[in-house]
Amino acid sequence: MVRHDHPEKDATPCRGGCADTPQPAGGGWLRRLHAWFLHVYADGYNAKVDARKRHLIGDLRGAVLEIGPGSGANIGYFAPGIRWTGVEPNPMAHPYLLRKADAAGLDATLLTGTAERLPVPDASQDAVVSTLVLCSVADPDRVLAEVRRVLRPGGRFVFIEHVGAEPGSGERRWQRRVKPVWRRLGDGCEPDRDTAGRIRAAGFARVDIEPFRMPYPIVAPHIAGRAER
Ligand SMILES: C[S@@+](CC[C@H](N)C(=O)[O-])C[C@H]1O[C@@H](n2cnc3c(N)ncnc32)[C@H](O)[C@@H]1O
Repeated sequence: MVRHDHPEKDATPCRGGCADTPQPAGGGWLRRLHAWFLHVYADGYNAKVDARKRHLIGDLRGAVLEIGPGSGANIGYFAPGIRWTGVEPNPMAHPYLLRKADAAGLDATLLTGTAERLPVPDASQDAVVSTLVLCSVADPDRVLAEVRRVLRPGGRFVFIEHVGAEPGSGERRWQRRVKPVWRRLGDGCEPDRDTAGRIRAAGFARVDIEPFRMPYPIVAPHIAGRAER
């Protein structure tokens, strides 16, 4: 069953459990383009991180919240039987997400909102997933505090993120140089964020982070890992 908090925007009916979350200013050709781009690039990106996603995401059980699920790149990795909630501010991505969740037979609730203010109760989630989101959120520290708030004790935060290159490196300088344009075209994405440092400082009980690289310019440095509340 797929539930959606703004069912009038697409053909999928809201069959209950719809949340009353604030609707951010939406629409616009750039948001539509981002949603489409996330949809078309997902398979190529996933092929390169397939083993990591299987390991990190496929292992999760129970109530799983995904922040910034975009156009649904991770939907195919969730184990059958989980209860998925997605919080995605770009309404143009919702039709892609709803189609993928429906096709996967996922028990899904899709909410419009931001990860800085997650519309779910304290300690209500067994796991939270973030892939390529902490680079774009307006306030990553606030988001990490929200992730901790909604996780039950012992609950798991799993993430794959592109991050800032080694400080002082030529790659880092390039990340900083292109940032103003990158951020504008990339829906707020900043290529030089110290996301690993922020996750380590966010107060989780245990944090495992593995750095790796992807074959892309500017956003090659990545991290994958998990943190436990
Ligand atoms: C690069 S996309 C990644 C999408 C998806 N997670 C993936 O791996 O393909 C970044 C996503 O974060 C979402 N986003 C941006 N700001 C956000 C916020 N403050 N809270 C939650 N999601 C946000 C964007 O709408 C977009 O869907």
